[in-house]
Amino acid sequence: MKDFYELAQRRQSCRNFKDKAVDGELLVRCVKAASLAPSACNSQPWKFVIVTNDEKKGALAKLVQEIGLNKWAEAAPAFIVVAEEAAPVLMPIVVEHYDSKRYSEGDVGMATAYLILEAAEQGLGCCIIGTFNDADVKALLGLPEGDTVRAVVALGYAADESVRQKKRKDVSEIAKIID
Ligand SMILES: Cc1cc2nc3c(=O)[nH]c(=O)nc-3n(C[C@H](O)[C@H](O)[C@H](O)COP(=O)(O)O)c2cc1C
Repeated sequence: MKDFYELAQRRQSCRNFKDKAVDGELLVRCVKAASLAPSACNSQPWKFVIVTNDEKKGALAKLVQEIGLNKWAEAAPAFIVVAEEAAPVLMPIVVEHYDSKRYSEGDVGMATAYLILEAAEQGLGCCIIGTFNDADVKALLGLPEGDTVRAVVALGYAADESVRQKKRKDVSEIAKIID
């Protein structure tokens, strides 16, 4: 088994893809890995749409460029759209004390992290995209109005496989140790 820390270091956002299709089974495997993420009361408040159809990919690529960013998305061989469902099923006592959607966004975020790490493990490059109008993406993909699209993940094979130096805050800035 590979070292998780090494995988986390190697995973990086990819915005330049080879002109090579991704096997559908690999994309399904990324979704399966995402579904293994933890969630509040095991509510699994996530939905995924795998998009490889050229017409839908083109339309989706346009939607993520609405503020002029993400031109590169037009050449992405595949997308996986990650959405949060409207009504997660939680334990009644939890709902009684806390808002029923309090945990969902974090849960979907964790699933997305699993998805992109599995993609990296499978040798795929990918990039989470956050610039889109939720209603437009739902209309394009036939998702219910009550769902919330949280991420559009572009996937493919990286044109450049070199691993960049990570730019991250130092652990001393982000962690407090109480011993
Ligand atoms: C919620 C979210 C939204 C993002 N949106 C975009 C985006 O619209 N376009 C883009 O090129 N990268 C986007 N990214 C990628 C980040 O820029 C990237 O993860 C960050 O710079 C760290 O670099 P790394 O992923 O290579 O480690 C997004 C990442 C997240 C988590």
